[in-house]
Amino acid sequence: MKIFSGSANEPLAEKIAKNMNLTISARELFVFPDGERRVQIQERVVDEDCVVVQPTATPVDENYMELFFLCDGLKRSGARSVTLVIPYLGYQRQDHVFRTGEAVSLEVVIKFLEEVGIDRVIAFDFHSVKIPELFKIPVDHLSAMPLFAEVIKKRGFLTEDTVLVSPDMGGIRRVKILSELLDGMTYAAIEKERDLITGKVEARGIEGKTARRAIIVDDMISSGSTMIKAAELLISKGTEEVYVFATHAIFSADAPELLEASKIAEVYVTDTVYIPKDKYFAKLNVLSVGEMIAREIEKITQ
Ligand code: R5P
Repeated sequence: MKIFSGSANEPLAEKIAKNMNLTISARELFVFPDGERRVQIQERVVDEDCVVVQPTATPVDENYMELFFLCDGLKRSGARSVTLVIPYLGYQRQDHVFRTGEAVSLEVVIKFLEEVGIDRVIAFDFHSVKIPELFKIPVDHLSAMPLFAEVIKKRGFLTEDTVLVSPDMGGIRRVKILSELLDGMTYAAIEKERDLITGKVEARGIEGKTARRAIIVDDMISSGSTMIKAAELLISKGTEEVYVFATHAIFSADAPELLEASKIAEVYVTDTVYIPKDKYFAKLNVLSVGEMIAREIEKITQ
């Protein structure tokens, strides 16, 4: 077994390798002056089962190209199999035609991943539970919900005065899963509306009961608007403490500053996406998915 990492999240790849008593294998990632990339596998991989770790958050397209080239390099060098660990799958939100004439970006990306010879995919908390069905190759869809459940218990939030909240109707299934891990903890959902052109988010109302403490759970935080609007609505309805949990810390634009300045008490995310130092803020807590991925790789390659 050999583990290769792209440049998108090397600390996570190191954690996975460490948990498997392996070291990261050598490759060269070179960028030409015009922005084109060259990738070279620098270890013998003939008849080896190989793993590539590369989430595809910002810079999305560059990370995808690097990933395609790494997988192609491995296949051409004789790798027996290539398992792609793509903790965050870029373009997954464009999973259907929202407005006439749009491309279904997710389907395009899946075609490329399959065409480049990947044998298996390991990913985390897809935007939609239907995404694994779109792949022709096997997909192991992991979730950060067990990690979140552990923290919620440790923090003493498993109480009558706490409610889980999905910030939109699409996320209810995820919150239900977390509720099941927490002895059937009560949950509610927010009616969210996003303007398809401007991307502006409105939290219109709450379906279900509110409580003194709310824990909002989502797949990702990008601009931060969804979480902040949901927290504001909950507080306007009498909630006193709001914690947020999201698997993928996309943190685009000034999301860290907005979250820090918001009424949210603390923000929990995972390391599926690399968070640069300048995007850290006081309220932020980062949980690692490294061990979970290592155990999954071991399970599927036994
Ligand atoms: C959308 O439905 C997703 O589940 C997230 O709620 C959304 O992508 C978060 O984006 P933002 O932080 O920009 O509101």
